[in-house]
Amino acid sequence: MSDLRPIGVFDSGLGGLTVAKEIIRLLPCEDIVYFGDTGRVPYGTKGPETIKRYAREDEKFLLSKGVKMIVAACGTVSSVAPDTAADLPVPFVEVISHSVKEAIEKTVSKKIGILATAATIKSGAHRRLILESLPDAEVTEVSGSLLVGLVEEGFTNKNDPLTIEAVRRYVQPFIDRKIDTLILGCTHFPLLADAVTSVLGEGVTLINMGTASAAAVKRMLTEKHMLNPTGGSHRFFVSDKGAEFQKTASVLLGEDINKENVETAVIDSI
Ligand code: DGL
Repeated sequence: MSDLRPIGVFDSGLGGLTVAKEIIRLLPCEDIVYFGDTGRVPYGTKGPETIKRYAREDEKFLLSKGVKMIVAACGTVSSVAPDTAADLPVPFVEVISHSVKEAIEKTVSKKIGILATAATIKSGAHRRLILESLPDAEVTEVSGSLLVGLVEEGFTNKNDPLTIEAVRRYVQPFIDRKIDTLILGCTHFPLLADAVTSVLGEGVTLINMGTASAAAVKRMLTEKHMLNPTGGSHRFFVSDKGAEFQKTASVLLGEDINKENVETAVIDSI
């Protein structure tokens, strides 16, 4: 059995492309519809009610495109608004629980760091899940909301002094606490992985939420006999057109994505 409908992936902006990239790597024959809410980014500095409303509206938009599954490729939505998935008529994948599992498998010292948006850190979602499995873990949480803007603006180069200085400010507590594993708890942050490693050093394992979450997508579609063996197309929607989305999508996904490939989404308010 197969299901030829696309997988729907959404984020507040271009960060969710880091998750889409991992899904494409694991499931090259799946069609994907990506929605980046670039007109309302950032989500991570907003309150829970606003984030939940945005999440419902984004999910509704993807459903209108006939998707068979929704992936919240956004740490903020996954931690603050996972309950918006309860009424969805299609399977849902969030990005927090799978990455926590990976961090628990990889840590040796049980000193785990989380770098995420203010809303995600406030929700305590990663910390709760880590301590459920590893009660004696030492969890260090840092809210790095400013880094989201840096990524959206394309300032991700590890040789850029501005990028390195901003990253250094946020990762210093992880150096002080001698963590051995850092969850990049915002899907924008894998784009800063090189900069983070150049400050933290090679000894700290970085967890990209996309990797474990893409594996979960594959597992779920396989179990439900919903894989698509014949697709491979990718459509991109944004709520506000900016050059950076198209540029980052092209580089990250290794596809020639031009302005015409990125469509403007009209989001119905709920
Ligand atoms: N990429 C998002 C996340 O994973 C959200 C960043 C933001 O909009 O603040 O949290």
